This record gives sequence, structure tokens and C-alpha cells, in this order.
Amino acid sequence: MYAISIVSTKGGISKTTTAANLGGICANEQMRVLRIDADPQPSLPKYYPLTY
Ligand SMILES: Nc1ncnc2c1ncn2[C@@H]1O[C@H](COP(=O)(O)OP(=O)(O)OP(=O)(O)O)[C@@H](O)[C@H]1O
Ligand SMILES: [Mg+2]
Repeated sequence: MYAISIVSTKGGISKTTTAANLGGICANEQMRVLRIDADPQPSLPKYYPLTY
């Protein structure tokens, strides 16, 4: 099991975009992926909308 954190104190430098794409790549490689967007204004669901 791997845990990958994508963090920066700077805003708008592609943290969420990188997390979205990296998770997709890992899933395509048959890895089980759990992405957690802990930002108070989470934007990760814009890429992968939650259905419930
Ligand atoms: N490689 C790239 N080329 C062009 N635009 C990009 C690239 N990566 C991200 N962007 C764009 O830059 C903007 C900010 O990206 P993103 O939301 O991933 O940053 P963030 O670091 O998560 O921001 P925040 O600090 O607000 O959470 C978005 O509009 C995104 O589409
Ligand atoms: Mg973000």
C-alpha cells in the first residue's frame, strides 16, 4: 500500500490536477485508489463527481 501526498503552501499550482491524473493512472494499472481532497474548498470532485 502506498500513500502519496501532494502538498504545497502555494495555491493554484496543480496539486488537485496532479492528484486527479496520478490516481487515474494508478487505477488504470489495476491499483485500488482512494483519493481524499482535504481542502476546505475541495475541487477534486469536479474531475470525478461524487454520485452519492
Ligand atoms: N499542466 C497544466 N497546464 C495548464 N493548466 C493547468 C495545468 N495543471 C493545472 N492547470 C490549471 O491550473 C488551475 C489550478 O490547478 P489546480 O486546481 O490543480 O491547482 P491547486 O494547486 O489544486 O489549486 P488550489 O491551491 O486552489 O487547491 C486549474 O484551472 C487547472 O486546470
Ligand atoms: Mg486544489
